[in-house]
Amino acid sequence: MIDLRTIPDLKGWVRARRREGRRIGLVPTMGFLHEGHLALVDEARKRADVVLMSIFVNPLQFGPTEDLARYPRDLARDRRLAEARGVDALFVPGEAVMYPPGSEIRVVPGRSAERWEGAARPGHFGGVLTVVAKLFHLAEPDVACFGRKDVQQAVLVRQMVRDLDWPLELAIVPTVRESDGLAMSSRNAYLDPEERRRATALSGALQEAHVAWRGGERSGKAIEARMRRFLGAFPDVQVEYIAVAEPDTLAPVTEVQATSVVALAARVGLTRLIDNIVLGEGVV
Ligand code: PAJ
Repeated sequence: MIDLRTIPDLKGWVRARRREGRRIGLVPTMGFLHEGHLALVDEARKRADVVLMSIFVNPLQFGPTEDLARYPRDLARDRRLAEARGVDALFVPGEAVMYPPGSEIRVVPGRSAERWEGAARPGHFGGVLTVVAKLFHLAEPDVACFGRKDVQQAVLVRQMVRDLDWPLELAIVPTVRESDGLAMSSRNAYLDPEERRRATALSGALQEAHVAWRGGERSGKAIEARMRRFLGAFPDVQVEYIAVAEPDTLAPVTEVQATSVVALAARVGLTRLIDNIVLGEGVV
């Protein structure tokens, strides 16, 4: 695995792979890797000849009171995991590489960024799309892999690729979970053992939605109410939102279908977690 730290390094590597006629797969991450990230690597390997992973804790996508400073980092471990999974090149830029002094142009997302995560985290998706746009330009990937775990992010990246005519393929990979259903996340590292047990409330509530769907429930409001009842049994889990939405823009739906997305954000102690399912599939 090759280490790339600067833009000239990265562009040199990309140019050489292009000359060889190789398909490039890109896996953007913020590091502290887990099986969810590594499932994206597996997908990229299937769809491309060489895999480039980026690790960059992107300050633009964190709000002023969020966890940028304490976001978990372990580059030595990440390098080992990435290499063992078959990553060919690891791009780890410093902040001044991605945002040199004077850099001020940003990508402005559309209306789909205003609800759910976007409402809870103002500016977040502009920060995400800006860094993803830069990575797309620098890496010129043939395919880029994202996780369904961050469903609104996946929706917005898809819209950006469409609206800015990016010549690349997107792969959206199903959520990888712990054996008790908790969606894998770098932020799970914040949970103490008691919070870790309670964190199953999120996937439990999503499964409750799926069971309601299987039982014939078709009202978005009723599904949300059922989830809120379920979550009410977990006193230290504070729900931020429950979205029952259509998959392309995440606009709320009154009558659900198998393809509807059910997503939620909740705080377990001080840790903010998100999760979602495709309603007809349930927690898988
Ligand atoms: P990060 O949270 O590190 O996630 C990197 C990628 O891994 C994202 O596409 C995310 O959806 C995916 N992922 C995370 N947990 C997953 C899980 N349990 N199963 C499947 N995929 C999972 O998302 C970001 O970083 C950043 O916003 C980024 C896109 C890198 C831009 O800074």
